[in-house]
Amino acid sequence: MSIRKPLKIALTKGRIEKTAVDMFNSIGIDCTEIENKGRKLIFHNDEFNIDFVLVKAPDVLTYVEHGVVDIGIVGKDTLMEFDKNFYELLDLKFGKCKFSLAGPKGKNFYEGYNRKKIATKYPNVARSYFKKMGFDIEIIKIEGSVEMAPMLGLSDAIVDIVETGTTLRENGLEVYNDICSISTRLIVNMASLKMKKNEIEDIVDRLKEEVDRREQIKKLKEAEN
Ligand code: PRP
Repeated sequence: MSIRKPLKIALTKGRIEKTAVDMFNSIGIDCTEIENKGRKLIFHNDEFNIDFVLVKAPDVLTYVEHGVVDIGIVGKDTLMEFDKNFYELLDLKFGKCKFSLAGPKGKNFYEGYNRKKIATKYPNVARSYFKKMGFDIEIIKIEGSVEMAPMLGLSDAIVDIVETGTTLRENGLEVYNDICSISTRLIVNMASLKMKKNEIEDIVDRLKEEVDRREQIKKLKEAEN
């Protein structure tokens, strides 16, 4: 057991968890314990003296900003929604999806003079998108299954994450406009980057190599098809 304090890494629970764990395993930092986690929340890797914690996306930012966690693995969607202080060091190029404006199929969102209602889990992203467009809207914050809002008549449209497009399709909705692309990012606490420079840079370099390796494989597979 090392007497040095463990480096702390927060992974986002859910959608991107599996690939994040897989990436750390691929660079030789064993995370298999997380795959069979039960209700455990902190996982120690003795070889590298790292503590992994599993938390919800916005909490990754909070823990990293406060410096109780050194590194966070989290989606760009969350980084865009919450205004926090950290360094974004690496695009891990998985968990790829996009922010889109979507609504009932066949409707022209832009017609009419009424102030449009937008349901979303991402009020800041939606507000800033429509501000740039010079479009006055009302935001309605929804915590999940946002697609329901226009279906029940709560809103005219939604601003949400679209990955495969299945949820929209299966609920009679379609994309009106794409807003921007999203992928998983590696963020670092500002003080940690100075205090634990070598440890952090070592992990970032290894992950960068792994990202490049995976991109190469993807390109080769695409070329084969
Ligand atoms: C996200 C998003 C959409 C869905 C899009 O929801 O809010 O509902 O995924 O994915 P698709 O384009 O592949 O269908 P998530 O599963 O994270 O759960 P939530 O609706 O409870 O937020």
